[in-house]
Amino acid sequence: MDSTTLQATFRTENRATAPVQRFRHPDDIFEALFQSVQGGESHARPTLDLTPDSPFLPFLEIGYALRSCVEKPARHDYLLARLRPHLSVMIGTLPASILPMGMLPKLAPPAGFRRLEDIGEAELRDWLIQEGGLIYGEMQRFELENYFDAVKPLLPPGGVMVDLGSGLGKVVMTAALTLPFVRCIGVELLNYRHRLAQERLVRLLTLARQGLEALPEPLTLETPLPLPSGVIASGRHLLDLGSRILFLENDMFKVDVRGASLVFLYSTCFGPLMDAISEKLARELSEGALVSTTTYPIKHPAFRLLQSHAPGTLSWTSVMIYQRIGPQMAEPAAETRYLHQPDADAWEERVRVDLAAMFPATA
Ligand SMILES: C[S@@+](CC[C@H](N)C(=O)[O-])C[C@H]1O[C@@H](n2cnc3c(N)ncnc32)[C@H](O)[C@@H]1O
Repeated sequence: MDSTTLQATFRTENRATAPVQRFRHPDDIFEALFQSVQGGESHARPTLDLTPDSPFLPFLEIGYALRSCVEKPARHDYLLARLRPHLSVMIGTLPASILPMGMLPKLAPPAGFRRLEDIGEAELRDWLIQEGGLIYGEMQRFELENYFDAVKPLLPPGGVMVDLGSGLGKVVMTAALTLPFVRCIGVELLNYRHRLAQERLVRLLTLARQGLEALPEPLTLETPLPLPSGVIASGRHLLDLGSRILFLENDMFKVDVRGASLVFLYSTCFGPLMDAISEKLARELSEGALVSTTTYPIKHPAFRLLQSHAPGTLSWTSVMIYQRIGPQMAEPAAETRYLHQPDADAWEERVRVDLAAMFPATA
C-alpha cells in the first residue's frame, strides 16, 4: 500500500471513548488497556538528581552555569553571546531545563561547579544537543493508530520493536497491544521517566489480569484473538503481555539494537543527533529492518525511504519509514547534515523580551 492510499484512511482525531465498565469481550480489555497508556505528556517534570553519584552532574554543572546568567540581567549580554554560535542545535528560544519551571534543581549548585566562562564551546554545544533531546512529547492515540496501520503491511510476523527514547512507554505498550511483536523494548535515559514507564506497565498488566479474569469465556493461550489492528493472534498475546514488554533505563547509544525488526524514533527533538543515530542504526541493524522517524529524515545510504507522510496526514509532524538495505556499514557521516540555522537577530530579539519579562532589571 503506498502512502497516498493510506492517507485516504488516516484518522485526524481521537474517537470519543467512555471508561470501560465491564469486560465482556477481549475488545473491552484492549480498550481499557489503550485508555490506561494515554496522557503521559502532561506528567509533572521533577527536578534532576543532584546527589554526588548522580549521572547527571556534568549536565547539571553546565545547566547551573547557564541558569546563573539567565537569572542576572547584567549577565544577559554574555549569555546571548555564548548561545548565539549554537542556535543550529537549540530547540526553542532558551533551553527549557534552565527556565524557572525547568528540570534543574532549585537548590544552590554544589561547590566546585564551573562558571560559564570556564566552559568551552564544544562542551556547551554538546550540552545544548542533549538538553533538546530531553524535551518530552507523545503522539496522540489516533496518530499511533495511523502509524501502526502504516507499518503493519511492511513487517514480517513477530519480530522485535524498539523505541529509542521511550519516555513513559506509550509507544512500546501500544505496539505490544496492536501487533504480534515477540518483544517490545523501550530505552529511556531519564530515570524518572523510566520509573513512570515501569509504573504504567504494572498498571497495564494489573488491568489486563483483571480483564482476563472477568471474561465470561476464558481466553486460552491458543484461542484465536483478533487484535485491534485486524491481525489475528492468539490468547497468548494478552496472557503473555508482561513477557512481551521490557523497559531499559539507558542511553540509546549504549544499547545494541541488533535483531530489531522495527526501531521507532520520536525524533522531533533529536535533530542534531540524527547523524549519530543513523550511523548507529546502520552499524547494528540487519538488512530489511525498518526504522521510522518524525520530523527529521535519515540521510544515510544504508537506508531506503519506503514511505513519507506529510505533516497533518499520519501525524501533526512528518513521519518517515525507512528500510535498512545492503551490507552492514561502519563509515562515519562526512558532514553534519541535519542542522537548521535560525535568524540569529530575530532569536536575540525574542530572547531579550522573554528574559526581561522573567527577570526585569532593577533600577
Ligand atoms: C519526545 S520523547 C518521546 C517519548 C516516546 N518515544 C513517545 O513517543 O511517546 C523523547 C524521549 O527521549 C529521551 N531521550 C533523549 N535522549 C536520550 C538518549 N540518549 N537515550 C535514551 N533516551 C533519550 C527523552 O528523555 C524523552 O523521554
